Amino acid sequence: MSLNEDFLLELRERADIVSVVSPYVNLKRSSKTYVGLCPFHSEKTPSFNVYPENNSFYCFGCGAGGSVITFVCRIENLDYIDAVKSLARKFGLNMPEDGYDDTLSRRRGRILSANREAARFYHSELLGERGRAALDYLLNRGLTMQTIRRFGLGYAPNGWTPLLDHLSQSGYTEAELIEANLVRKSEKNGKTSYFDNFRHRVMVPIIDIRGGVIAFGGRVLDDSKPKYINTSDTLVYKKSRELFALNYAKNSLEDGRLILAEGYMDVIALHQAGFTNSVAGLGTALTSEQAQLLARYAKEIILSYDSDEAGQKAVRRAIPILSGAGLKVKVLKLSGGKDPDEIIKNHGRERFKSLIDGAANDIEYKMLAEREKFDVGTDDGKLSFLKAAVNVLASADGAIEREIYASRLADEFSVNKSSILLQVDEARKRLDRQKKRDRLNSLNKTARSMGIPPDIPSAVSVNAAKSEMTLLSILLNNPDFFIKISGSVSAEDFSDELHGRLFKVLMERAASNKSIELDLLNAYFTPNEMSRIVRLNNDGARQAASLGICFDCIKIIKEEKMGVEKVNPAELSDEDFNNLFKSFNK
Ligand code: GTP
Ligand code: MN
Repeated sequence: MSLNEDFLLELRERADIVSVVSPYVNLKRSSKTYVGLCPFHSEKTPSFNVYPENNSFYCFGCGAGGSVITFVCRIENLDYIDAVKSLARKFGLNMPEDGYDDTLSRRRGRILSANREAARFYHSELLGERGRAALDYLLNRGLTMQTIRRFGLGYAPNGWTPLLDHLSQSGYTEAELIEANLVRKSEKNGKTSYFDNFRHRVMVPIIDIRGGVIAFGGRVLDDSKPKYINTSDTLVYKKSRELFALNYAKNSLEDGRLILAEGYMDVIALHQAGFTNSVAGLGTALTSEQAQLLARYAKEIILSYDSDEAGQKAVRRAIPILSGAGLKVKVLKLSGGKDPDEIIKNHGRERFKSLIDGAANDIEYKMLAEREKFDVGTDDGKLSFLKAAVNVLASADGAIEREIYASRLADEFSVNKSSILLQVDEARKRLDRQKKRDRLNSLNKTARSMGIPPDIPSAVSVNAAKSEMTLLSILLNNPDFFIKISGSVSAEDFSDELHGRLFKVLMERAASNKSIELDLLNAYFTPNEMSRIVRLNNDGARQAASLGICFDCIKIIKEEKMGVEKVNPAELSDEDFNNLFKSFNK
């Protein structure tokens, strides 16, 4: 389906990018643009820019950029048409062609509405005759009716098909319910039958930040196994990318802090006790995607995992993932119960509050963990511990923090403080180099997995690339220049493949008096190519433009084409690339 250009322009007019981005990124206004932490990579300082003047975005950290449509594609993982549809719906525009529609967005919509209907069903079952035992179970665990309603808790009745029967009446097909993972299929002796995925379980709906019911966790009412059955991944649910209760917690951040617990029941108990800034993972080890999601809302995470061995192992795994997303980490030392739920039930909310106030920061926690590994009563143990401690300190970002802990170590072990700090410095340098390598590797990996070449794939020389970028950025902002430079340079003169293609498209559109609005260019280029084009466009918008500069650029482009200087792009170091852009951005 190709989209009508008038329609796209109209959509572009209406789909205000700031309001589209805002639910995902905490944007701050900075003169003409808005900035925030990039949702597409992890970072500590904001380099994600939103430009309301031309409805585009660009991240100077990872190079993601594009139009309001590209943003929706990326953040929601939608294809282009689905993103247009979703925006059209949101901003009250009718799609020009309305025919048969069996795209992903329709299927997603059906899953979401089936889930919502299922949540309603489960909830009313909990409050009805059949739900007595389940309701008693929840009340016995100390939940109030208010909490049960707030979290929309429910009960999946004990039968093979109560939900299937109910949703069939509302018009859902078996195929749709299977796709939602609400129903399962069995083939026995050549006979096909369908049955509910959740039976005789307490149901916890999982709701995303936009209020959509995306999945369920179902808990048994006794000690039988498995304790939980969870929705497996569907078109609307990737458990590695979601967090339980973030929909509530995001509105009640305390000093930018979120409490991260292990279980649904912990989080529900925490909210009931007033710690409404609590969230949990969804039964998998914490992922970097979840850490990035947390980082959109919080600055600091209070890890509040179970006190058992498994929980503490999970803490050790989670710390570097959270720090990697730019988050500060504190670790609760739980006492008086195995998890937050138990502690609150046994000792009340005040006890939990005091645990939070006394939480060790990640450095202290890591120091303690290292100390436990060695016998510091012996010389050998002391030395090994100090070595490990140096590495822990190297991971601390604050110089004062490092000083304080180095002093403590020096006092305790009668060693020279400055020699500790010297070693910490060495370790930091090693760590820095490692980080740089990792970052570059991961950038390259992402690029490869998306099937895109690195940023300037085919430019034969830095000079040519720079001139091409300058020229294109000016042209994008000054369509009237095309006619004036027409004939003096052609697409084949460009050394970078994308630059050449872009020039060709722009030239052709300008020649037939068509608009060169960014959103219309989407049809010619991939989202990753659009990232680069948007950057060109926005850089151009900020720099002085004159026809003279254009001709200077053209001169250099042609000279370079003649082969004045050949640099293999593969030999451009990371730094060269960065410099190239820095000088260009000025
Ligand atoms: P309670 O025992 O009722 O207090 O449960 P909880 O919510 O505190 O869960 P727990 O700490 O035992 O486990 C943490 C999380 O791991 C749960 O919330 C689930 O997401 C997941 N989980 C626990 N048990 C199972 C299981 O048997 N199967 C699956 N798939 N996930 C589980
Ligand atoms: Mn628990």
